[in-house]
Amino acid sequence: MGMIDKINELLQEVREIKANSAEELEALRIKYLSKKGAISVLMNDFRLVAADQKREVGQHLNALKELAQEKINQLREEFENRHSLDNGYDLSRTSYPISLGTRHPLSIVKKEICDIFARLGFNIAEGPEIEDDWHVFTSLNFATDHPARDMQDTFFIRHPSSDALLRTHTSSVQTRVMEHQQPPIRVICPGRVYRNEAISYRAHCFFHQVEALYVDKEVSFADLKQVLLYFAKELFGEDTKIRLRPSYFPFTEPSTEMDISCNICRGKGCPFCKHTGWVEILGCGMVDPNVLDNCGIDSAIYSGYALGMGIERITNLKYRIKDLRLFSENDVRFLRQFEAAN
Ligand code: DAH
Repeated sequence: MGMIDKINELLQEVREIKANSAEELEALRIKYLSKKGAISVLMNDFRLVAADQKREVGQHLNALKELAQEKINQLREEFENRHSLDNGYDLSRTSYPISLGTRHPLSIVKKEICDIFARLGFNIAEGPEIEDDWHVFTSLNFATDHPARDMQDTFFIRHPSSDALLRTHTSSVQTRVMEHQQPPIRVICPGRVYRNEAISYRAHCFFHQVEALYVDKEVSFADLKQVLLYFAKELFGEDTKIRLRPSYFPFTEPSTEMDISCNICRGKGCPFCKHTGWVEILGCGMVDPNVLDNCGIDSAIYSGYALGMGIERITNLKYRIKDLRLFSENDVRFLRQFEAAN
């Protein structure tokens, strides 16, 4: 058989090669392309070819070698892809840039509030979200028929032997701290609270609060006022003004609500502040002596102030967010807007 015939025969074989495993593929490579393989043998015989045929035979031989190499590479690639998919990994898949997450706006503002109080020497205290009547209401001087205990507001957890409920405010943490610690007490208590409200752009069945409590000898209303002014300026800017309006909370006496000069219109009047120039941001007052006594702190020796605010409300003011529901929808188009504040 002439050289050309041998080459053509091999060419036919190579066109049809198949492999089902890496071992089979390697055997084929050895059969055709290794040093003693069929194609290499032909290459060695090439020197015996007559000079006038060298050109033609050489071209055929090269074509055969290239095809064999190509076929084996192609089979190897197919085989590797199949193999990687079998493992549950697709190694051929293109990579994509991994985007970094951002802090939630409520976390950013919570941290900012806690940091301001931390600079005044307040420590963080936390309590459970599933609470009982004593910590949420009774210890805080709520009368047994106070409307806040109503089913309309409070999520009660039905259980025959307990009065468990979801806390409606973080004031419950005041009681938890005072039960375990004698003054001086200076704590800041951030956390989630629950109320049975219909969900809308301005109400939700859960939201977040920060509570602050200071108890020591000779704590006065003037101390409270000074801290409120410092806090408002730190949070909303040096030119922020505050005003206190008389109010009522069972756990403080006297009680007030604090407004700040509207940070959107700078006090000139706008739809956000209902053209008053002021927006309410928190409730506060001097801790009612009954509350101190309920928690084992002698109200004849100690006095204190407390304040509480909604984190959503402050965040709305700082970032002009008009719909509360955005905070719990996890829409990344909303959340990404807070990248710069992280
Ligand atoms: N617990 C109140 C609420 O949920 C907020 C509050 C008002 C807390 C006055 C206080 C306070 O500590 O002194 O609306």
